[in-house]
Amino acid sequence: MAATDLERFSNEEKRNLSLGGHVGFDSLPDQLVSKSVTQGFSFNILCVGETGIGKSTLMNTLFNTTFETEEASHYESAVCLRPRTYDLQESNVHLKLTIVDAVGFGDQINKDESYRPIVEYIDTQFENYLQEELKIRRSLFNYHDTRIHVCLYFITPTGHSLKSLDLVTMKKLDSKVNIIPIIAKADTISKSELHKFKIKIMSELVSNGVQIYQFPTDDEAVAEINSVMNAHLPFAVVGSTEEVKVGNKLVRARQYPWGVVQVENESHCDFVKLREMLIRVNMEDLREQTHTRHYELYRRCKLEEMGFKDTDPDSQPFSLQETYETKRKEFLGELQKKEEEMRQMFVNKVKETEAELKEKERELHEKFEHLKRIHQEEKRKVEEKRRELEEEMNAFNRRKVAVETLQSQSLQATSQQPLKKDKDKKNFFSLPSACSITSGRYVN
Ligand code: GTP
Ligand code: MG
Repeated sequence: MAATDLERFSNEEKRNLSLGGHVGFDSLPDQLVSKSVTQGFSFNILCVGETGIGKSTLMNTLFNTTFETEEASHYESAVCLRPRTYDLQESNVHLKLTIVDAVGFGDQINKDESYRPIVEYIDTQFENYLQEELKIRRSLFNYHDTRIHVCLYFITPTGHSLKSLDLVTMKKLDSKVNIIPIIAKADTISKSELHKFKIKIMSELVSNGVQIYQFPTDDEAVAEINSVMNAHLPFAVVGSTEEVKVGNKLVRARQYPWGVVQVENESHCDFVKLREMLIRVNMEDLREQTHTRHYELYRRCKLEEMGFKDTDPDSQPFSLQETYETKRKEFLGELQKKEEEMRQMFVNKVKETEAELKEKERELHEKFEHLKRIHQEEKRKVEEKRRELEEEMNAFNRRKVAVETLQSQSLQATSQQPLKKDKDKKNFFSLPSACSITSGRYVN
């Protein structure tokens, strides 16, 4: 088909045609509903708030059940995230609900890093989903999606203002998750104080640029209720699973000596508003926003970090294949560079070691020569000493022979002239005065 034909074809107006009778595609929404119901839904709530603020009680009250809970201690050295998943069923709809508790939040003396484990947990869930998406054999259909759909941020009912920990944490989370701030234990604050507290919280959030989740107003069916509810934020809630008799009805409430706070009484607190907005009206929007806004942002940043782009520097579309090839070349180049660096490093190291060894060898040689010289000197001295001793021994032997000759001569003379004996003996003992014989040894 020629290019001009193609243009004409695509520019052609769509024509509305009426059907002659029932065809059946009006059942598409029903098919979708049926498919979704069979598949079931998942919803993941993150509860952030200080220890004992009423997180577990509110969850039990919201879903009208008793989840597993255990009191957190105030001595955690860092915030840790504890997810628990439950299968719930209402009519024929299955809900896989995960409640993630930020255990130990606000308990550390230094709270600078309190937000970090929460952010890391949210990112890890995004990363797991991205890895599944990038797999060749994906199974997103039955993948257990653990991405956080909503963060219920429990504000302590001080009546003053938000703590810096709250502002910092919400700021760090607002681009990653839908935040719904709630004032916990709202029965502990008076009506007029609560009104002022709500205004103060909202103005602080705005002035610090914290983006909280806004109930959507683009769908006609819920636009009105959602815009009214947006004006009620943050919801002031009371939680209780205790049932108290009011009139002739059993209601969930908190009973005090001075009266009863009914959880589901809209003039007592905003619990019903929260339940309506979170579960009945906007649960699907929260899931959708998580996927299309927060996850999309994470995915984009991650892929850009990995070097993927949609367009090249000339604003031309960049195919995945090209990006991959460019990245591969970059990687191989880098690898080669690293290899060359390592080789050079190895050569230098060998040279260094060689020089060190040579130096050591030279030192050893010098030492050896020195020892050799000493040895020769010693040898020479010993040789000299030996020569001296030999000379002395020869001299001694000569004297010994002379003495013996003299002795024998004198003996002979004695035997011939016994009268001259004493005189000769005297002569014998007056021989060289410097030498004598002691115990057979010659002493000078
Ligand atoms: P950890 O999991 O240990 O951090 O505590 P938590 O935030 O889950 O609080 P939890 O629901 O265990 O409640 C702590 C205490 O607060 C309990 O004694 C609850 O009865 C009480 N509590 C819970 N909700 C409310 C409330 O709305 N108002 C008041 N006054 N007390 C509440
Ligand atoms: Mg708890």
